[in-house]
Amino acid sequence: MDIIIIKGGKPLKGSVAVSGAKNAALPLLFSSLLAEGEHRFDNVPLLKDIESTELLLNHLNCETQRIGTQMKVTVNQPESLVAPYDIVRKMRASILCLGPLLARYGKAKVSLPGGCAIGSRPINLHIEPLRQLGAQIEIEHGYVIAKAKKLVGDRIVFDFATVGGTENIMMAATLCKGTTILENVAKEPEISDLARCLRSMGAQIEGEGTSVITIEGVDELKPTDHRVIPDRIEAGTLLLAGAITGGDVKVIDCVPSDVDALINKMTACGFEIDTGVDWMRVKPCDRWRAVDVNTAPYPGFPTDLQAQFMALMTQADGTSVITERIFENRFMHVQELVRMGAKITPKSQVAVVRGEKAGLSGAQVMATDLRASASLILAGLATADETVVSRIYHLDRGYEKLEVKLQSLGAQIERCSV
Ligand code: UD1
Repeated sequence: MDIIIIKGGKPLKGSVAVSGAKNAALPLLFSSLLAEGEHRFDNVPLLKDIESTELLLNHLNCETQRIGTQMKVTVNQPESLVAPYDIVRKMRASILCLGPLLARYGKAKVSLPGGCAIGSRPINLHIEPLRQLGAQIEIEHGYVIAKAKKLVGDRIVFDFATVGGTENIMMAATLCKGTTILENVAKEPEISDLARCLRSMGAQIEGEGTSVITIEGVDELKPTDHRVIPDRIEAGTLLLAGAITGGDVKVIDCVPSDVDALINKMTACGFEIDTGVDWMRVKPCDRWRAVDVNTAPYPGFPTDLQAQFMALMTQADGTSVITERIFENRFMHVQELVRMGAKITPKSQVAVVRGEKAGLSGAQVMATDLRASASLILAGLATADETVVSRIYHLDRGYEKLEVKLQSLGAQIERCSV
């Protein structure tokens, strides 16, 4: 098992490039199931979750070939339309094969993903809309078993602007008979990227990036070439790494407007942040103010940056109130930060962080989920002592070589196998 050892306390300096977005690449790769033939994706990050996706696509008779950051997916008629538990349990986003398989082949059997560290994460907002489009869906023996002769467009109003639910139904609706109107949908940049890709496959979609998406069903789609957008969560994490060390870091190959909510909060803290079209730079800052944060669907403050921002707030002047509004159990990092000396009181979905400059000390800590691992690394960078983060496999699900990127900024951080 790998661990990460950090000896922080040194301002980071330099320029670092962001990889392709995990949360965009996953639905894009699954969207290939909508059209047989050869699809090509550029800027695909090298991550465990992408490997899990490849595994599932291979199981569904697709060939995948990676050359650097390019991935070729050749979709063939599947022999089986089953997404088995052993693959789905590794990555919840596997549920995103349900919409494309059902729309393209009229049936699919996908394992229920089960719970996860950050909350119960049901899939009712994937299942109910598919039923509304005419699918017959049963849950049996831990599997979602879906059938439909032909899906038929309808008006669907989501109870909550779910990212995965919006993606699954968007993909299914591309091959529906007639028009589908999706209301109260997610507006995340990853949704817009998926819409662009589906359009280049021949889908008729409009409205992405707003709360209503309209899809006119077509008879068939064709394979395409598509470049994955930059990872806004990785970009935000790298900017925060610069900030928490009082460093001067330029994050390149990113879309600053995708992290406006973070930039606004950091500016309110007192950081000076310059931005260009595809870069952003945090300037050195010795002291910063505490600010409150509520996570919210895009364009609100992303839940995927909450843990990392909390690390920054442990070092702020004053008290910050951080409210997690998306997931019910996303404060698993709190107790680990407390082991490093942070003064945080969590209660239900609110954490009160009493900032104290130099209040952290190195410790052995354990990553509990993907973004929690990044927050512990940021905290480690803020203290001159040694911090050892275990269960790094969570990090590898969603950050491409984070330790190497931080090393390039001058961080003393290394990965060791134990
Ligand atoms: C995606 C992201 C994840 C991010 C999250 C919120 C991917 C692969 N993952 O996850 O990194 O943290 O968006 O920005 O893109 N919900 C239901 N029923 C459903 C679906 C969701 O109740 O059928 C609830 C969830 O439990 C959660 C909330 O809706 O409380 C948001 O979930 P959702 O937007 O669906 O997140 P994911 O797509 O799973």
